Amino acid sequence: MQQLILEGGVALRGRVAVSGAKNAALPLMMATLLAEGDHQLDNVPDLADVSTSARLLESLGAAVQYRRGRLEVSTHGLCRCEAPYDLVRTMRASVLCLGPLVGRFGLARVALPGGCAIGARPIDQHLKGLERMGARVELRHGYVEASARQLRGAEIDFDVVTVTGTENLIMAAVLARGTTVLRRAAREPEVVQLAEVLNASGARIEGAGGEEIRVEGVAGLAPLRCRVIPDRIEAGTLLLAAAITRGEVIVEGLVPGHLVAVLDKLREAGVSLEPVEGGMRVRGPERPRAVDLETQPHPGFPTDMQAQFMALLCLADGTSSLCEHIFENRYMHALELERLGARIRIEGSRAIVSGVPRLSGAPVMATDLRASASLVLAGLAAEGCTAVQRIYHLDRGYQGLDQKLRGLGACIRRASPACDDQRTVRAA
Ligand code: EPZ
Repeated sequence: MQQLILEGGVALRGRVAVSGAKNAALPLMMATLLAEGDHQLDNVPDLADVSTSARLLESLGAAVQYRRGRLEVSTHGLCRCEAPYDLVRTMRASVLCLGPLVGRFGLARVALPGGCAIGARPIDQHLKGLERMGARVELRHGYVEASARQLRGAEIDFDVVTVTGTENLIMAAVLARGTTVLRRAAREPEVVQLAEVLNASGARIEGAGGEEIRVEGVAGLAPLRCRVIPDRIEAGTLLLAAAITRGEVIVEGLVPGHLVAVLDKLREAGVSLEPVEGGMRVRGPERPRAVDLETQPHPGFPTDMQAQFMALLCLADGTSSLCEHIFENRYMHALELERLGARIRIEGSRAIVSGVPRLSGAPVMATDLRASASLVLAGLAAEGCTAVQRIYHLDRGYQGLDQKLRGLGACIRRASPACDDQRTVRAA
């Protein structure tokens, strides 16, 4: 398993571009199941999760091509409705094929995703919504089997705000008979883009981005054509990379309106942010200020930025309090940050971070996608060498993060643990 070797202490300088959003691309890829034809998605990031989604579409009978950010999906040959366990267990977002398959073909057999490092990750809200729309849902041998002659519009009140639950039921509703109302819907920019792209293909969705979404079923959709929005979580991670190294960087392509809560917290921590043509200039302070933050559904502070922000706060002047309201086990990175000298106390869903003047490099282990990003950020600032192991987690959600950071002057390279012979990895 590969690792990243970092020599900390370099102030990052230069310009870096944000890639397309993983969490927008994945639902859009599954949305191609809703229409027969040749679909085209641009600005799709080159990620392990995108490859997994492409394999899933191919297992359902689609033909998929990916070249320099353009994903072409042909759904003329769809012939199966089953998402196998070996794909679903590597990527929970595979569950996003459930809504389109039942909505278009009246049948879906999807392996239950199971839990992951950050929590139980149930899909009860997805299933409750499908049942409300008339689907028969059974759990058998680790699979969800959902069937319906034709889904019908329904009023669905989510018990919790769920991003993929909202996306799945939007996709189930676009071809249903009648009108569906989703209340307490997720408001993420990725949900908004999914609705916009489906509407451009003939769907009738109103209210995306708000708490109540109305979907009027239509007879059919045209193939998708879209350009995936920039990844707001990658953008936030790159801003933090400049901040934690006291650097000065221009992050290009980010949409400030997609990460207002993160920008507010960065300013509160003393990070200088200045909108520039096509992006944001970020300057890191000599030492960040301690801040308190609580993760919330969008437009609140995103849970996907909690681990990365914690890395910055480990070096803050003062004590910070973080509260993780979305997932029940999203502090695995704290134990690894402590190996770098951080002082963190976990009390249930709260983490108390007592800022220290410096971190010192050490081998650390990534446990999940955003935890791995947090450890990379800490390694950029820690004195000496940090080795972040199991970076396959990182490659699921960041397109060439090590190359992007190297382009900003970071001393970072990939190596295999077995033969870390100081070989520098040629940039791919
Ligand atoms: C999406 O996951 C994102 N993934 C996650 O990003 C993100 O952390 C999460 O939303 C929250 O913002 C994608 O979009 C592919 P949820 P999702 O359903 O939809 C509970 C990353 O790092 N819940 O919004 O799976 C659940 O347990 C990933 O890029 C139920 O109880 O998350 C959690 O506590 C990680 N029942 C809360 O809701 C359900 O049926 C939010 O989960 C569904 C969810």
